[in-house]
Formats: sequence, structure tokens, C-alpha cells
Amino acid sequence: MSNPNTLLIRQAQILLSDGHFFLGDVLIQGGQITQIASNILCSEHSSIIDASGLTLLPGVIDPQVHFREPGLEYKEDLHTASCACAKGGVTSFLEMPNTRPLTTTQAALDDKLQRASEKCLVNYGFFIGATAENLPDLVTAHPTCGIKIFMGSMHGPLQVSTEAELEPIFANGTRLIAVHAEDQARIIERRKQYEGITDPAIHSMIQDETAALNATKLALKLSKKYQRRLHILHLSTGIEAEFLREDKPSWVTAEVTPQHLVLNTDAYEKIGTLAQMNPPLRSPDNPKILWQALRDGIIDFIATDHAPHTLAEKAQTYPSSPSGMPGVETSLPIMLTQAMQGNCTVSQVSNWMSTAVAKAYQIPNKGLIQAGYDADLVLVDLNTYRPVLREELQTKCGWSPFEGWNLTGWPVYTIVGGQVVYEKGKLNTDIRGKALRFRE
Ligand code: DOR
Repeated sequence: MSNPNTLLIRQAQILLSDGHFFLGDVLIQGGQITQIASNILCSEHSSIIDASGLTLLPGVIDPQVHFREPGLEYKEDLHTASCACAKGGVTSFLEMPNTRPLTTTQAALDDKLQRASEKCLVNYGFFIGATAENLPDLVTAHPTCGIKIFMGSMHGPLQVSTEAELEPIFANGTRLIAVHAEDQARIIERRKQYEGITDPAIHSMIQDETAALNATKLALKLSKKYQRRLHILHLSTGIEAEFLREDKPSWVTAEVTPQHLVLNTDAYEKIGTLAQMNPPLRSPDNPKILWQALRDGIIDFIATDHAPHTLAEKAQTYPSSPSGMPGVETSLPIMLTQAMQGNCTVSQVSNWMSTAVAKAYQIPNKGLIQAGYDADLVLVDLNTYRPVLREELQTKCGWSPFEGWNLTGWPVYTIVGGQVVYEKGKLNTDIRGKALRFRE
């Protein structure tokens, strides 16, 4: 008899939880992985995927995205962003609080969770944003992956940059604090210094490496003072990585974006303001140091910082052009292409984009292919190269900094909770993800 809750994946190269590959079958029942074996005989299955030639990885968990809903839906919304996720093999995301209204209260968090339950094809979690005034909300908000602090590159109430404002947040409560570490006072000073320059390349000079290092040092100092769980978002410079190499307490983690690994300041010449983001792209010597820090475990995992803006907004002259670039539907192929080129292994990519994220954010049952784990999976094709094409993008902003890049490792199937949400270019928009849980 057919069982609608059963899915059998046949003859995939399966990345096992020990980091090794195994050619075999995976049985999924009721949304969970129930068996992994070389040949599973199952009579009651309703669906079979022939995965010959494909590689099965845990679904990507992207721990830093800006999906713009509510309030900025003209750039992106939770539905379009989750479609982009499904196409990119991203089965869960953690979203940032700079929406309108800001996600700084329990009510705003509840509203996002409700919206996501109605429109997201993949699993979701949300940060609560720190202001100088919402300490009680930061301590009690639930469920949330953590507190987001914009130490720099923000305006309005989410900008929390002085030590006096930051200290009470680190001193009260125990949940994870994730920081966008840039020194706002320094940025303001340097903005004045470079006023009138419209070449977007100046962005990397204004928000320079020292601005990033200063803020990272301050966050680390406060984290050490209170032994407070700290995560450093989108670490962008070699000097920060080397600083952490010398002094990184066991309760501190750091992430890097694919764009800070594979792009540098040369990109301004080619794609202008499309390369503008915060923290900015760095000079070519930085990515090399970031790669080494990632391979050495100084940097723990990868996030895209998917931050879409319309092409019309990006076409404005610097500094009116907004910072940010989309990333969820290219991050896995970008990283797997790097693996195929020998910069790292496929197993490392999967650790950085799934296993280590689930561990750091204490998301139960995700990030590994193992019996008992949730069936959030992606089957990728590591044999074919295809370019990033604007017309195929799902993100509402409709562009990518990687257009024209010839990549491998494109998802062929994406599976969320045992359901196929993306198959060979087609999305199943009837599927809904679930709210992520976080062990606190
Ligand atoms: O470039 C960026 N843009 N970096 C961020 O951290 C925020 C983002 C946005 O929301 O546009």
C-alpha cells in the first residue's frame, strides 16, 4: 500500500555524519530520515527519487539573511526569498530584524513567525534586534535564534554602538548575541573625509579594516567580561581573523560570507555598486587569510547575508546606493565550485553551511544525514557546470553579483521535512516549512 509520508532516495553519494561518502539509499518516513543502507527494499513508498550521479548533502542552514518582510516587500518577501532558498538548497534560514517595523518586540517576532508559517517553503527562525531601550524584550523574546546587534552600518534605533549601550545587553541574559561589528564613530568620521567621492570603491576605504577590527575587539572584550555567548557575523578582514586566532574563547563563533571569500575590491570595477555591501569587500590579500581561518576552524561557518535591493536602488550614485547583495540561491554552488577547484572539500562545505550552523545555534535534529534527523536535504550535481543566469533567479530583486559565473554543485532536488520543494528547475509552492526550535 502506498504511504504518502514515505520517500526513498536511491543510489546517491550520501555524505554521512562522519564526513565520509557512501553510495546507497536513504529512506524518509514522516519527515525524518529512518534508514541509510546500500539497498533499501521498501514496498510501501509513495515516491522514489533516482539519485544516480547525484550527491546528497544536509540542507543548507543560512544563518544570516535579510528577507525584507514586513515593510520592504518591494525588495523581497518571505515567499520569494523562500523560493530562492529552495532553489539554492537552503532548507532553513535565520532572518535579521531590520524590517519595518523593526523586530524588536515579542509582537513583531510573533508577526514574522505567523507570516512565515503562511508563506515560507523552507524552515525559518528570526533574530530579535537590540536597541538601547529594549533589554526586557531581549531577555524574554521566544522563540528566537538570538539577539542581533548592529554595532555599525545602521541608522535609527537598531544602531547600538557605544560601550555604555552595549554593556547592559552583554550583562543581562544568556542567549546568543550576534554582532555586525563595525565601528560607527570611525565610519562617520571617514565619511566626512571622503565626502563628494562617488566611486563605489571608496566604500571599502570609508568602512575600512580598522573599523571592523575595532568593533570585533569591543564585542570580544564584553563577551569575555560576562562570558556571554557571542557570534561575529560576516567577518570580512584578515586582521580580525588573525586577532581571533590569538584570542577566541570557546563560547565565541564567527562566520564569513561566500562573497568575502570569492570577491574582493576588484569587483567594483566590474559590477560597480552591485559589489557594495556592509562590511565591504576587502583588498585581494584578505580572502586568502579568511580561507585559511575557515579551514583552521577560527571561522566556524558560512552565511550569505542575503540583502536584496532593487536594481533601480543600486543604480543610484554612491553613496546614495544601498549596501547589500542577494545570495541564498548561489551560495551552495559557489562553495561547491570552490571545493571542486581544490580550495576545500565537499564535506567541509557541508559542515560550514549546515552541520556547524545547527550546532552553534543549537537547532535540534538538523545538519546531518543520520537516522532520526529531520529530512532537510539537497541533492546536488557535481558533474555539470552551468552559469548563473538572471532570468532563472527567484529572488525578487532579480540580480546576482555572480551573473555569468560558471558553477557546479547546483541543487537538482531540495527536500524540506521529507517533501520535495524543488525538483529540476521547478518549485512546489504548496509546501510549507516549520518554525525552527533552539535549545536554550
Ligand atoms: O550590506 C548589508 N546590507 N549588510 C547588512 O548587514 C545589512 C544589509 C541590508 O539590510 O541591506
